[in-house]
Amino acid sequence: MTKLKAAVLISGRGSNMGALARATMDPDFPAEIVLVLSNKPHVEGLALAQEHGIDIRVIDHKEFDDRETHEDAVTEALKEAGAELVCLAGYMRILGEGFVNSWRGRLINIHPSLLPSFRGIKTHERALERGIRIHGCSVHFVTAELDAGPIIAQTAVPVVPGDTAETLSDRILEAEHELYPHALELIASKRVRWSGDSGVADMDVTQNDVAIFPKAD
Ligand code: GAR
Repeated sequence: MTKLKAAVLISGRGSNMGALARATMDPDFPAEIVLVLSNKPHVEGLALAQEHGIDIRVIDHKEFDDRETHEDAVTEALKEAGAELVCLAGYMRILGEGFVNSWRGRLINIHPSLLPSFRGIKTHERALERGIRIHGCSVHFVTAELDAGPIIAQTAVPVVPGDTAETLSDRILEAEHELYPHALELIASKRVRWSGDSGVADMDVTQNDVAIFPKAD
């Protein structure tokens, strides 16, 4: 089986990267991780990637004069690694239009809300403030507009009485760890793609591909 070569961009803990790494260890999984790249040195996720035997790179944005030259260096590293798809997993940098457009349709992100609700940061705090009953997470193709690209897969997570931003975040993170590998599998098996021409992704999915959390047994 020819596997899709994916790179994962992180900035910290890297627990979603870890979930992707675990999924790709299955010999039947249609993607492999060729590189984990961080814009911050010494973060937890880098050590975790090494534990999985994955190549790591640090390209510290602080060492570059501007966003564009940093992103050019990132692209060069991704190309060197042979990456065909880039997965953002807690990569806390706004990406420039040049980078986003050059990876159009091959750049995905996980976000801790049911998009298009709660783009940006502090999603759990804002969800609780608004008193919503159903929260969740989304994986989407990345466009130049923040957290606005075509949605690939989502998981709904109910808000329960007594939830704090922390308890909600913990439950959603658990859902993220199932959702991201699922979304990667959908792309690697060519059941989801985005040509870049419309606001929605092209899907060839069944009802079983729709993620639900917690899963009914
Ligand atoms: C995850 O919850 C991810 O959804 C979020 O950052 C966390 C990273 O955790 N991403 C964003 O908020 C992007 N807008 P991790 O480093 O343990 O995967």
